[in-house]
Amino acid sequence: MTQMTTTKAGPNLGARVEGLDLRAMTPEEVRELLVPLLHEYHVLVIPGEVLEADELEQFARAWGDLLEHPASRVEETPYVQVIFSEGEGDDRLGQWHSDMTWHETPPIITMLQAHVLPSEGGGTIFANQHLAYDTLPEELRSQLDGAKAWNSGKAFGPNMPDTLQPAIRTHDETGRKALYLNPVFTTEIDGLDQTTSRELILRAVQHGTRPEFTYRHRWEIGDLVLWDNRSVMHYPIRDYSERRALLRAVVAGGVPV
Ligand SMILES: [Fe+2]
Repeated sequence: MTQMTTTKAGPNLGARVEGLDLRAMTPEEVRELLVPLLHEYHVLVIPGEVLEADELEQFARAWGDLLEHPASRVEETPYVQVIFSEGEGDDRLGQWHSDMTWHETPPIITMLQAHVLPSEGGGTIFANQHLAYDTLPEELRSQLDGAKAWNSGKAFGPNMPDTLQPAIRTHDETGRKALYLNPVFTTEIDGLDQTTSRELILRAVQHGTRPEFTYRHRWEIGDLVLWDNRSVMHYPIRDYSERRALLRAVVAGGVPV
């Protein structure tokens, strides 16, 4: 393997990792080289050659078991999805979220690789939710510590589940706590009335998405970006009007605590 180099991507999260051959990486190399970097930086940017769906799947499997996603599968495998937009006529706006929090066991890691990019725009912002928790005003923290929140998957279809998740999540490998509420899937805090619940979620999300906690990635073709859904929220910026296509795979996790 070529010499791996790591440089910080942003002051509070993100690292750029170069010199890797993703087609050749073994689970042992991922565990020894990349997992510690992910725990330290939460978002890894790995520039390289564009991978086929089966190659991305093979690299993703080096991180653990994969989860299927209900949206936009490629034909070859249920474990790789295409995030595709024609740009033109797509007026949906981005929203902050951690992936699939409505799932009983949401993915711990999401990876995306850029295949087709607009000439400008289409970036992704990440926000460090450990930092969000560490700096949470005491009055908010006392309301959220130990609380559970409902997360709904109904945006993906009527049969998708609603799941109770902890409002504050403890990372099962580093032990760090993180804010685990998002404005897309989190519908209410269990046991609170709608108004109080909505206001609490809104204030927590406002705090958790402060620019100070963020890193904004500007994609290049071949960039593989992978992040820890236990540690960050992300926001896809829909500010482009041309084609954009990225391949995605998600690594299964346990029940959040
Ligand atoms: Fe996402």
